[in-house]
Amino acid sequence: MPTHRDFLSILDFSTAELNGLFRLAEAIRAKRYVKKPMKGKALAMIFMKSSTRTRVSFEVGAYDLGGHALFLSQRDIQLGRGEPIKDMARVLSRMTDGIMIRAYAHSDVEELAEYADVPVINGLTDLSHPCQILADLLTVRQYLGSYEGKRIAWIGDGNNMAHSWIEAAQRLNFSLRLACPAKYEPDPVTIAAARAEGADITLVRDPAEAVEGCHVVNTDVWASMGQEDESNERIEVFSGYMVDDALMARAHKDAIFLHCLPAHRGEEVSDSVLEGAQSRAWAEAENRLHIQKAIMAVLIGHEPLAPYMAKKGRAKRRGHRRAG
Ligand code: CP
Ligand code: NVA
Repeated sequence: MPTHRDFLSILDFSTAELNGLFRLAEAIRAKRYVKKPMKGKALAMIFMKSSTRTRVSFEVGAYDLGGHALFLSQRDIQLGRGEPIKDMARVLSRMTDGIMIRAYAHSDVEELAEYADVPVINGLTDLSHPCQILADLLTVRQYLGSYEGKRIAWIGDGNNMAHSWIEAAQRLNFSLRLACPAKYEPDPVTIAAARAEGADITLVRDPAEAVEGCHVVNTDVWASMGQEDESNERIEVFSGYMVDDALMARAHKDAIFLHCLPAHRGEEVSDSVLEGAQSRAWAEAENRLHIQKAIMAVLIGHEPLAPYMAKKGRAKRRGHRRAG
């Protein structure tokens, strides 16, 4: 029996647990939660790709919770010289209390989790970016009160971010509309699995159709990390997918704009939108810190989540869903 839980996908948490994490993160943001559940504990942070927000938020978050974080770049550790992931997993498990990893292949993270005896947290793979989408939903709660019943638009590449949004729509009660060019759509199996559980997901080509009346407009770079050599081709394919003032004008009048950052101004988003009154990109980045502290407090610090979870009997949209 495993004595720990990993966070590789949004689907690793139930609806009630996700709402519990949001409430704990809100208590952390409001400084109502000031405990140090990671006292004497260490988090290993493995980076196979670059990072600003993920590195800083996990490192500062571990410190705030009383713990310590180690930055392990692939360039500097034996992984970069070919040491197997399964060996690293068992060594780090004997010296640290949790592992956060940013990788290319999602299967590398799954292998790490299989061999590690401590919680493994997905800090982005080519397949998904679950910590970011929880921070994004925390931002939606902060500025729109709730994600319940909201329409969320995803404009651009059907990438790691899009996949985690789809998994969030599988667990939580909002409607997701994605506008992606042909051949750049999200994985159809991920969409089908979410729809099979009742998720309200619409996939269209036209960004204007996707944002019409939406409460949240969300985009990301056209070439993700590892796809740099496709940049020129992608700029051509994605022309017409920039979130600019004209597109934002089609959304709900109180709509907010989200971007996980880093952004390429003049490609997927105009400078005026990113810097504009509807942009919540900076609060969204800050929320990475709060939600990851909640995740680490629970998974590594063993903070009980039950007191933050929804009470039974709250409104549900679909019979099979848990309260929240
Ligand atoms: N949004 C995000 O994950 O940023 P970094 O790549 O800087 O960590
Ligand atoms: N889709 C982007 C997200 C960066 C945070 C990438 O994978 O590079």
